[in-house]
Order: sequence, then structure tokens, then C-alpha cells
Amino acid sequence: MQPGPIGVFDSGYGGLTILSQIRRHLPEYDFLYLGDNARTPYGTRSFEVVYEFTSQAVRALFDMGCQLVILACNTASAKALRTIQQIDLPKIDPRKRVLGIIRPTVEYLDELTVTRHVGILATSGTIKSQSYPLEIKKLFPDITVSGEACPIWVPLVENGEAHSEGADYFIRRHIDNLLAKDDKIDTIILGCTHYPILYDKIRQYTPSHVNVITQGEYVGKSLINYLERHPEMDTLCTKNATCRFLTTESVDIFRQYASIFFDDTIQVQSLSLK
Ligand code: DGL
Repeated sequence: MQPGPIGVFDSGYGGLTILSQIRRHLPEYDFLYLGDNARTPYGTRSFEVVYEFTSQAVRALFDMGCQLVILACNTASAKALRTIQQIDLPKIDPRKRVLGIIRPTVEYLDELTVTRHVGILATSGTIKSQSYPLEIKKLFPDITVSGEACPIWVPLVENGEAHSEGADYFIRRHIDNLLAKDDKIDTIILGCTHYPILYDKIRQYTPSHVNVITQGEYVGKSLINYLERHPEMDTLCTKNATCRFLTTESVDIFRQYASIFFDDTIQVQSLSLK
């Protein structure tokens, strides 16, 4: 097996919030990011479609030399990860690995909530899948979880409306809905990688005693830990501190957007998935 970059996949731009944090934790590693911008959003799509699209993306990243792929997308982690791990990987190459981002976030929850009442803001797909409540119950059965789907939030980000006045109405409405479900919530997880782009507005409409948690930091720490526990995979990850990007949409638009997160020159190529 030839060593290669760590693949990072998202339906669009959201995974860049995870990638920038992973790079902060593992600056010497090489990364290859793939955004399926042409087919985003995934959050309102069926299980079958999210699995199909995610599986195509993972195969493309493997074909480009990645041995380890992170699904930096909650919707893909919720709806496709298990099937890819159990059905696809044994057929493709059982030595390759695909990891999600729900479990790494949930693992740190114990330190974050005092009231043991937690809220999840995520896409309709992630909320419907019940992945967060199920993972949380496995690790911390005493924590009460409430979820709120925010189907408009990803389109706001993908259409460059994150900082517009129009965004405020939808952001406030979903936060109010979530807190109305359980007034003891002291910690809200932004369970969609696009949402950190809306962080300032989310913070503005959330009471100050409630923590608002973004995932990047936890995914970064958890990946360091994974590579320490799996030296056989660590040796399959190249370390020249490079970062390259692939998009299924226009290279120019992607470059503009990615430059919000990365100072260095963005090397991006277009790719079609099938
Ligand atoms: N950013 C993805 C997530 O974390 C999905 C956004 C979408 O495509 O709906 O859920």
C-alpha cells in the first residue's frame, strides 16, 4: 500500500471548518479535500442517495491515493458511514479506513454539560437518523437530548447568505424552537459542519449561559488520538504539510470560498463523481 494524503469529504463547503481545525492539530500531514458542491445539500436527501453519493466520493478519494478518509459531514456520517465501513470497505480494501465525525464530538460531551440537557442543531437528515441521541445514550445514558432540524441553514451558507440580514430570521427561529423543547439545555452542538460559518449569528440569538459547540476542535483531537493508537495507518499518511482541494462544481467559486479558511494559495481541481 502506498502512503497518501488524508482524504476529507463534505457535501460542500462545510467540511472546510473541520479541515482547518484538523490541520491546526496535525500541521505536518497532507490533506486532500473533496466538496460535492454540485450536489449539495445532502441534508434533505434520502438514505439511499446520501449513501450513493458518499460512497462515490470515498472511492474517488481512494483512487487519488488516500488510505484514510474522514467524512467531515454529519449527514454523511449519520446516513452512510456504517454501510461504507461494513459493506464497501471489505470489498474495496479492508486495510483502508473511513471515519465519521459524530462519535468524536459526542465523546467530549461529558466535560461540556453540567445540567445534562443537550441540544443538537443539524440537517433534517441527521436529526431524522437519530444518530446523535443514539451515540449519546451509548456513552452517557443520563444525558437528555433534544434536536432541531434547520433545513434552510445549509442553503444560506452555500449561497453566500450567511452574513445577510435575511439569515437572522431563520437562525433565531430554530434556536428558539430548540430551547422551547427543553429549557434546561446548557450545551448546544452545532451538528452540521456548515453551521460554524453562521456562528456569530447563532451566538447572538443564544442565551449567554448556553455553550455553543463547534466540532472541529474535537475532531482534530480525536484524529491525533486515532493515529497514535493506529501506527499502521499513521505510516500510510504522508507528511509534507500540503493541502489540495477537489470540487464537483466551479473551481473559481470554490477557490474564493476556500480562501476564507486558508491563507495559502488554494490548489483546486474539478472532478465529476459517478
Ligand atoms: N455539512 C453537512 C453536515 O455536516 C451537510 C450539509 C448538507 O449537505 O445538507 O451535515
